[in-house]
Amino acid sequence: MTTAIYPGSFDPLTFGHLDVLERCVRLFDHVVIAILTNSQKSPLFSIEERLAMVRDVVLPKFPSVEIEMDRFHGLLVDYAQSKNAQVIVRGIRAVTDYEYELQMALMNRRLAPGIETVFMMPAENYSYLSSHLVKEIAGHGGSITGLVPELVENRLKEKFKKQA
Ligand code: PNS
Repeated sequence: MTTAIYPGSFDPLTFGHLDVLERCVRLFDHVVIAILTNSQKSPLFSIEERLAMVRDVVLPKFPSVEIEMDRFHGLLVDYAQSKNAQVIVRGIRAVTDYEYELQMALMNRRLAPGIETVFMMPAENYSYLSSHLVKEIAGHGGSITGLVPELVENRLKEKFKKQA
């Protein structure tokens, strides 16, 4: 049985993440979405809000996926080992993602040689999609329809309305 961890900030979940998740579910027996802290980013949504969004969108769509509900602030490889995972999945969109992803994959391999990182390409119509751009567009009142699930779109609107 192969367990794959799909880690990320998911701030917020986009259709690009869901596309990669769909591919993971087809390949691996057990997929764990892990919402982790990226020390380089300050999140818009709290970890609880992100978990709630992932749970509400993903559970009805993929009933077989285990959603990790833990708050995890440590190293990804420690988390992966605690779940007995053999694989870390990362979505890669364009060449610009590659350098950062390669560095992380090689560093994670150094820390935990038994865990393999697998890169997956989302559908090309999501190759320009990022949580960062979604937040920027939503923050300025632009349309994000078709980029994120409706539930996420509504939570983004609520969040920016509260902040205004
Ligand atoms: O969605 P993101 O922000 O690109 O995800 C990056 C994430 C959260 C997977 C990465 O920052 C991470 O693994 N954080 C946990 C801490 C860690 O293990 N850092 C060392 C990576 S070599």
